[in-house]
Amino acid sequence: MLRWLFPKKNENQKNENKESHEKKFDNNDAKIILREIREEYGLDFSNKKEITIEKMKNFAIQHDIYSFTDLREQLLHSHHLKKDLINKLTVGETYFYRETAQFEILVKLMRKKRVQRILCIPCSSGEEVYTIVLYILTHQKDLSGLEIVGVDINSDRIEQAKRGCYSSRSIQQVPSIVKEKYFYQKDALYCVDDILKQHVSFKQMNIFNREIFTLGKFDVIFCRNLLYYFDEEHKSEAIEIFDRLLSDTGVLFLGHADLISENKLFTKVVENDGKTYYIKSD
Ligand SMILES: C[S@@+](CC[C@H](N)C(=O)[O-])C[C@H]1O[C@@H](n2cnc3c(N)ncnc32)[C@H](O)[C@@H]1O
Repeated sequence: MLRWLFPKKNENQKNENKESHEKKFDNNDAKIILREIREEYGLDFSNKKEITIEKMKNFAIQHDIYSFTDLREQLLHSHHLKKDLINKLTVGETYFYRETAQFEILVKLMRKKRVQRILCIPCSSGEEVYTIVLYILTHQKDLSGLEIVGVDINSDRIEQAKRGCYSSRSIQQVPSIVKEKYFYQKDALYCVDDILKQHVSFKQMNIFNREIFTLGKFDVIFCRNLLYYFDEEHKSEAIEIFDRLLSDTGVLFLGHADLISENKLFTKVVENDGKTYYIKSD
């Protein structure tokens, strides 16, 4: 009887603790954490501050932490906790065959110039990377010498990218002929064929961390749906990083929402049909 009662009492105590501790979640402390995240990762949550603070509070409680001051303290000492929080805050939408116009330009460019190394940052769970491989495979056929590196800050997404298995919703836009040839079903998921995996690799990295330069130089960079997360300062920094990562004749593809102001490093190219990309300025 007593043994049966104890866990219940502990549970009640825990709930009481939670309630009293929750009062210690001061938004001003949360703002300090958000400012530090912005400085380190460029992530700017100012237009969704309330929901982000709520997410951080839930995250803290899940980890038995009951104030933002304690959360901040523990983030300073635990790399794992920080990684988990970043994973929680950066769940971005992505899917196969998203905004395909730029993949058409890529295939066209590849007919004119040698493209061997492509960087896809951020790659989230890998859909964009595999879409690029599928586009090249189905339009130009030859994958020899090609290497595509996918990078994202979210380690959960990177693990999923390595597995290469997706929901039916994620592959909705894939043409059925491509689906039949290059995917196989595993329970409720659709997994990419090994041939697609042979030319890709995935890495968990922060674009603003110096280790990004250990990846070497690229002929093409896809950076779609990332810059809109950043403030102006981090956008400019990202542009400088792309400049350093691209070869002299390198090409940069940005997403529709990733608007950048005119800058001396890149020149915007607008094709007759309105498709855009950037090349390095002379
Ligand atoms: C909306 S997804 C874009 C995925 C894909 N490029 C697309 O357009 O479908 C945005 C991704 O940016 C990643 N991200 C945010 N900040 C980052 C940073 N500092 N370095 C690398 N990746 C970052 C997030 O983890 C998220 O997976």
